[in-house]
Amino acid sequence: MQCRNIVKIHRGRGVEGERHGFRAVDNVSIEIERGRIFGLVGESGCGKTTLARAILYLDPPTSGSVLFDGVELGSLKPPMLRKYRKRMQIIFQDPHSALDPRMTVYDSLSEGLINIGVDKARRDKKIRELLDRVGISSTYSRRFPHEFSTGQRQRIVIARALTMDPEFLILDEPVSNLDVSIQAQIINLLMDLKKDLNLTYLFISHDLNLVSYMCDVVAVMFGGRIVEQAPTEALLAHPGHPYTRRLLASIPGGAGRF
Ligand SMILES: Nc1ncnc2c1ncn2[C@@H]1O[C@H](COP(=O)(O)OP(=O)(O)OP(=O)(O)O)[C@@H](O)[C@H]1O
Ligand SMILES: [Mg+2]
Repeated sequence: MQCRNIVKIHRGRGVEGERHGFRAVDNVSIEIERGRIFGLVGESGCGKTTLARAILYLDPPTSGSVLFDGVELGSLKPPMLRKYRKRMQIIFQDPHSALDPRMTVYDSLSEGLINIGVDKARRDKKIRELLDRVGISSTYSRRFPHEFSTGQRQRIVIARALTMDPEFLILDEPVSNLDVSIQAQIINLLMDLKKDLNLTYLFISHDLNLVSYMCDVVAVMFGGRIVEQAPTEALLAHPGHPYTRRLLASIPGGAGRF
């Protein structure tokens, strides 16, 4: 996955917003090699989620291009874009709003599979396997989201993303809503999945410590721009940008707590 000069202008917040828009992402270029975990850190409001949504064309960029497998997403017609989008999935921070409270786990996981024409027998098998893989007993598949803990719900959300056999996952603060003990379990699950399924991750967080544990490369975002990008070890050893230094200084006990 590669993005080149992505700009995203949000319109419509106040009079100024309507007139000029707000440049939430400002000329961002990143390249994520297959099989890698690319970390994106930055303070709240710096544009991380906006960038993620632009990459997936959920909220297309105002300008710039996104290339997936060498194909520019902006050039695709809707049916083809949908195909590419299935190969890229996103997991958000809040598993409560991600799952429809009126749908059973089974129905949530079936939805996408029905859309792509998978028959019932294959759906059942796939859902069983995926729930197993994320550590949810498939005997619970007829239950509703409120019957699960937050951590279990995030596992279900992950299983749902995997129904589409994605190659690339954007993890947008996937553990920020979880207790620390549960965070580690979900991170371990994500690391196992990455290995077993040959996935590529864009891992978004404002926890530089977590990012330094997981990621091969880290980019630091500040005010809509990437202000620094380097292999994780190099970034930790020689933070260039003042914001990166502040982030590092704010980790209790220094990086490497994990
Ligand atoms: N739909 C929208 N319309 C207008 N402004 C928006 C919209 N979505 C986000 N913004 C603004 O764009 C900026 C970037 O928001 P974004 O959600 O991308 O930040 P973030 O880095 O993901 O923050 P957080 O760490 O809190 O999730 C913020 O100033 C936000 O208020
Ligand atoms: Mg965000």
